[in-house]
Amino acid sequence: MNDQPRRRPHKPHRRPQKDPVRFLAFEALRAVDERDAYANLVLPPLLKKARAKGDFDSRDAALATELVYGTLRRQGTYDAIVAACIDRPLREVDPPVLDVLNMGVHQLLGTRIPTHAAVSASVELARVVLGEGRAKFVNAVLRKVTAHDLDGWVEKVAPSYDEDAEDHLSVVHSHPRWIVSALWDALGGGRAGIEDLLEADNERPEVTLAARPGRSTTDELAKALGEDNSLPGRWSPYAVRMAEGGEPGALEAVQEGRAGVQDEGSQLVAAALAAAPVEGRDTRWLDGCAGPGGKAALLAALAAGRGAALLAAEKQPHRARLVERALAGNPGPYQVITADGTRPPWLPGTFDRILMDVPCSGLGALRRRPESRWRRRAEDLEAFAPLQRGLLREALKAVRVGGVVGYATCSPHLAETRVVVEDVLKGRGGEPVEAEWIDARPLMPGVPALGEGPDVQLWPHLHGTDAMYLALLRRTG
Ligand SMILES: C[S@@+](CC[C@H](N)C(=O)[O-])C[C@H]1O[C@@H](n2cnc3c(N)ncnc32)[C@H](O)[C@@H]1O
Repeated sequence: MNDQPRRRPHKPHRRPQKDPVRFLAFEALRAVDERDAYANLVLPPLLKKARAKGDFDSRDAALATELVYGTLRRQGTYDAIVAACIDRPLREVDPPVLDVLNMGVHQLLGTRIPTHAAVSASVELARVVLGEGRAKFVNAVLRKVTAHDLDGWVEKVAPSYDEDAEDHLSVVHSHPRWIVSALWDALGGGRAGIEDLLEADNERPEVTLAARPGRSTTDELAKALGEDNSLPGRWSPYAVRMAEGGEPGALEAVQEGRAGVQDEGSQLVAAALAAAPVEGRDTRWLDGCAGPGGKAALLAALAAGRGAALLAAEKQPHRARLVERALAGNPGPYQVITADGTRPPWLPGTFDRILMDVPCSGLGALRRRPESRWRRRAEDLEAFAPLQRGLLREALKAVRVGGVVGYATCSPHLAETRVVVEDVLKGRGGEPVEAEWIDARPLMPGVPALGEGPDVQLWPHLHGTDAMYLALLRRTG
């Protein structure tokens, strides 16, 4: 008989379990934070690798995408909630810990994942990527978060609307305050409109295709997508919307460049420029800021149908190559060149129609780039200002008298839209140009709520498009 005292059995040491979906989402969030990567560029290769290893099916990919995009979009709200659950300033929490916490808050408050699963998966992820000590901290914070739902938390952490409307909207709808303020200035109106707009920025946009005229048709695209996955465009005659999402690159028409992925707002801008009335010759078209080539491809197809030629110019050589790829196979004449639109190689008065889709802050496409709202600074607009004016001024020189220039941005910020056009027309900071406004609204037939004109501002919450801006001008002298 063994009379040795019995030893207490050791508590079995359990190695933390690596959940591939959460681990991948965390890797993507770290890349966005550490390397200033773009979520829409970082995520696809990570998903592809995970699929190739057999780790992932399409549901896992959808969950990882939701965790990354949702966490980034709602970061402003989630930061405020986490700040209320800890007893030190948020800036003292290490960024990787904050990523795990915010992703946990998103699972708890922004998805249907059951509470216990959201907490335990986050703590397990923390064990793997942060270690045992910080996993305990994550556990403690997330348990506090479970005390309320999203509405309850927002009520607790956001200042009241009456006290400070912009701060309130900033926390509730997760936008930096200066962006709330700029969007509200551009939109005008009361509380309901700005709230709808900010919420629309937090929705994932539908994937929309453009059937390039003369090269494919909406019927062809709808048939290829199947009845369940295709919806007609809301406004553009070239648009087909992918109802269930999926991989547009798998479609033959997209592979062959006969159709492309393009927001309906961009389609409307290109189509309106092509439809603007021009007296006399109408054979020389220019896209002066063409990269990566979405609008150029639609313009080139429209030009081909009307016996016109498109010159597509782009300053960045690598983006000019993307334009080449987008235009390949266009049935009519076109040329792609690398050129600086502020020091153009073309002679004044050369073109009949010009599109200047200028570089901008991108505040109109926040739904597509979930991290961009946190990266942009109000000061960035100052850097764009001279470039936008220079490009428009040169476009108005490059068009012949009677020809048309379209000035477009994917930002609704007034400093990038109406103010630029008015400054250039009035000759502020340069020589005055002789040009008149064309009412752009009738050139977007059937599209409601286009404002008082003559320029057009599209909105995600009103039109389901990016917030594209278009001013049309005719050179008069
Ligand atoms: C808003 S993007 C154009 C998007 C494009 N129209 C499309 O629909 O795919 C602006 C483009 O202008 C280019 N760009 C910037 N400065 C330029 C310049 N001085 N001259 C010509 N292109 C310029 C940028 O590299 C960028 O590709």
